[in-house]
Amino acid sequence: ITTHKLALIGFGNVGQGLATIISSKSAELEELGLNVQIVAISDPIKGSIYNPNGLNADLLLETVQSGNTLDTLPAPFTGWSALRTIEEADIDTVVELAYTDLKTGEPALTHMETALRRGLNVITTNKGPVALHYDRLMRLAKENNAHIRVEGTVMSGTPTLLFGTEHLLAAGITKIEGILNGTTNYIITKMMEGQSYAEALREAQELGYAEADPTGDVEGYDAAAKVVILANLLMKQSLKLQDVDREGISKLTSEDIMRAKEENECVKLIGRIECSSNGCTAEVRPMRIPVSHPLASIQGATNAITYTTDILGEITLIGPGAGRLETGYAIIADLMAILKEYSRSVTGQVEEEVKI
Ligand code: HSE
Repeated sequence: ITTHKLALIGFGNVGQGLATIISSKSAELEELGLNVQIVAISDPIKGSIYNPNGLNADLLLETVQSGNTLDTLPAPFTGWSALRTIEEADIDTVVELAYTDLKTGEPALTHMETALRRGLNVITTNKGPVALHYDRLMRLAKENNAHIRVEGTVMSGTPTLLFGTEHLLAAGITKIEGILNGTTNYIITKMMEGQSYAEALREAQELGYAEADPTGDVEGYDAAAKVVILANLLMKQSLKLQDVDREGISKLTSEDIMRAKEENECVKLIGRIECSSNGCTAEVRPMRIPVSHPLASIQGATNAITYTTDILGEITLIGPGAGRLETGYAIIADLMAILKEYSRSVTGQVEEEVKI
């Protein structure tokens, strides 16, 4: 069993969630052949630290959670910038979690490109660079014999992309629709219970579901980015964010919601991509759906996605869409997928040698 060395660019909620899992599940992970070690962290607020022999995840967590910076820990290298870490540290995979603008994808995009050019694998939960430049990033990965994995960009650790790519591509996905944003589903659920929009939004923020700027959630940009990622990864499209017909929930009134309820329907912010021989349409908007619809029962910040396929009909996954451990787990799933690809390529090489 070989050690897989990670550099975490960003050590906020998701990075800390990942460190928690690495520490608490180390025996289980080793049994699965995954001996992961955090060797470097670079975060503009939490500080930076690099030790090629590995860092103690518990000590890292304890340090930042007690308000100290990582630079205060004894280690051979501190004070490295994110770029220097990516360019120089002895690592296998860069876990890119820097706070990133959805409009430009920066600074995550530059970090990811730098890592891939160096032949390092990249895992990210940042939607911006993936929604904006996935083709470019995939090309760079192939050219440099590296892997890029993005499970946590859609529905956190709920395995939407891995499930789609591993199991559904041959079944022919014709439509995907989902509740892809927890903040707005939380707000709508609370409004159905009689709360005002403002009260419900404040609660969603307090519970940590909302993005730093909730405009991205309530105006549907967050869900639209996820629609683009799903369309491009699972339906072979090359959509841009502006191709998604988008409307958020900020104009939704309690009356709209109550009226739907009286008519045995409910309102949900649905992200949808539908393809036919005439092409594909992509949209995010509040829709009225009958209470018997599989997405109608999804309450609070929970997410759900229904894949419609030629062969299997409809398959629905329901699960978390955010959270530190939940999103941290997506990175673990991506690491397991990378190791599987490694072993596939090693087996391939052996077979080729045998043939010769
Ligand atoms: N703000 C997002 C949501 C978090 O509410 O679903 C995960 O992308």
